[in-house]
Amino acid sequence: MGISFYDFKNLHHETFRQRVLERFKNIVDTGSFVEGEFNKKFETEFAKLQGAKHCLLVANGTDALEISLVASGVGVGDRVGVPGITFYATAEAVLNIGAIPVFIDVDYNTGLICPESFKRVSEKYVLKAVMPVHIYGLPCDMEAINKIASDKKIPVIEDAAQAQGALVHTGPVGSSGNLTTFSFYPTKNLSAMGDAGCILTDSDELAKKIDVIRNHGRGDENALGRNSRCDHMQAAVLHLKLEEISHNNQLREEVAEKYFEALKDLPIGLLAKKYIRSSSWHLYPIQLDDKEKASGLLIHLQAKGIGCTSFYERALSQEPPLVEYDGEKTEAEKRAGRTVCLPMHPFLTDDDINTIASEVKSFLS
Ligand SMILES: Cc1ncc(COP(=O)(O)O)c(C=O)c1O
Repeated sequence: MGISFYDFKNLHHETFRQRVLERFKNIVDTGSFVEGEFNKKFETEFAKLQGAKHCLLVANGTDALEISLVASGVGVGDRVGVPGITFYATAEAVLNIGAIPVFIDVDYNTGLICPESFKRVSEKYVLKAVMPVHIYGLPCDMEAINKIASDKKIPVIEDAAQAQGALVHTGPVGSSGNLTTFSFYPTKNLSAMGDAGCILTDSDELAKKIDVIRNHGRGDENALGRNSRCDHMQAAVLHLKLEEISHNNQLREEVAEKYFEALKDLPIGLLAKKYIRSSSWHLYPIQLDDKEKASGLLIHLQAKGIGCTSFYERALSQEPPLVEYDGEKTEAEKRAGRTVCLPMHPFLTDDDINTIASEVKSFLS
C-alpha cells in the first residue's frame, strides 16, 4: 500500500467525523454560514493557546500575510524583507500589495532566516517590514530578530503557517509580541477542511484595523477593506481540532526523534537536535550534499511507494517572478533543491519509520 505523506483518514477518525457532521448539520439548519459562534470560540481559545491577546480568523494564510502587511502600513513601493527559503506565498503577499521583496539569507543547515543577514540587509535597504518564516515548523531566532527590528523600528510579521505548536523564546509562536500569521490549509498541523487562516496580535489598534480590513471596511467608513472572512464551517472544524492538536504535535515530535535516531549516522543533514523540542514538526526535511543525489533519493523513495517531496526545490530568488529582486541569497540558493521531506504526520508507525529509514540507507549505500 505504501506510506503516505499525510494521513487524513486517521486525522478524521470516526468520532471526529460524527462530531463535525453534527456541527455542519446545525450550521445548515440555522443558516449561520459566515461568522458564527465557532469563529468567536476558536479565536478566543486559539489566542489563549498561542499566548496572544487577539486572534482574527481570515480566509487563508496568504490573506493573513497581505492583511498584516497593509495593517502595518506597508504600501506600494515599500521594501519588505523575506527569507530566501519559504513557500512562495510569503513573497506573493508582498508583491500583491505592490511592495518590493528584499531577500534575507538563511542558515544553510536549517533554512531559517539568518539574523546577521537581516542586520546587513536592514542597513543597506529601508525596510518597512520583515517577515521571518518558521519554516518546516522550526522556530526562527525571534529574540535576535526582534532586537534588530526594534532598533530599526521595523514591524515584524511572523509567518507561522507551518508552526502551530512550535515555541519561541517567549513561549508558543505568536507570543513574542509581533503580528503572527497562520494558514489552516488542509495539510497543516491544525487544519481546516478547505481554506482558512488567522492573524495573532497583542495590539488592540492592529486588531481593530485587521477586523475592519477583513470585512469590506465595515466599522470604519473611510477604510478600504476586502472580503477575507472565514466560513463558519471551517471555524467549526478548527475549533473541534483544537482538542487534538497538542497530542498530535506530541506524536509528530516522537516521529521526529525516531527519524533522528534511525538516520543520525548517515552522511545527510538532519535538523539539529537542539531544535527537536521546540519545532511543530510540520515537515521532516533531510538534506543531501548535492542536488542530483536529492532528486535521486526522491525518485527512489517514490518508486518504493513512500510519499515524499522536495520542499523547497528553488530559493525565492530563483522563482521566475522574483529573479529581478535584490538582497542576500547565497546560502538559500545553495540549500534549495538539496532537501527531501520524508512522510511526517502523527500516525506513522515504527514499521513505517523503519521502512523509510532503511530505504534512505539503501539508496545512500
Ligand atoms: C510558509 C507559508 N506561508 C504562507 C502560506 C500560505 O497559506 P495559504 O495556502 O493558506 O494561503 C503557506 C501555505 O502553505 C506556507 O507554508
